[in-house]
Amino acid sequence: MYVCICNAITDRQIIQAHKEGACSMRALRKKLGVADCCGRCAPAARDVLARCKADQIGSTATPSVRASSGWLSPSSAAGDVA
Ligand code: FES
Repeated sequence: MYVCICNAITDRQIIQAHKEGACSMRALRKKLGVADCCGRCAPAARDVLARCKADQIGSTATPSVRASSGWLSPSSAAGDVA
């Protein structure tokens, strides 16, 4: 799903950037250019980032708990659900 229309940045790109160490909006902006134009994507990008952090912290949660939160990890989105 596109998060930043101005720069054609998807949630998957943000998730990948987070995995590579971009754990703040400033880091995302520097790495991907997210929210560096109109800025309308900033809340959505922040939400994806927060979900990445929550998923990382709550990695011991069962998949059903994570699925019920509405968040699908990249592996589960690709059909790799246990
Ligand atoms: S939608 Fe991201 S900067 Fe405009």
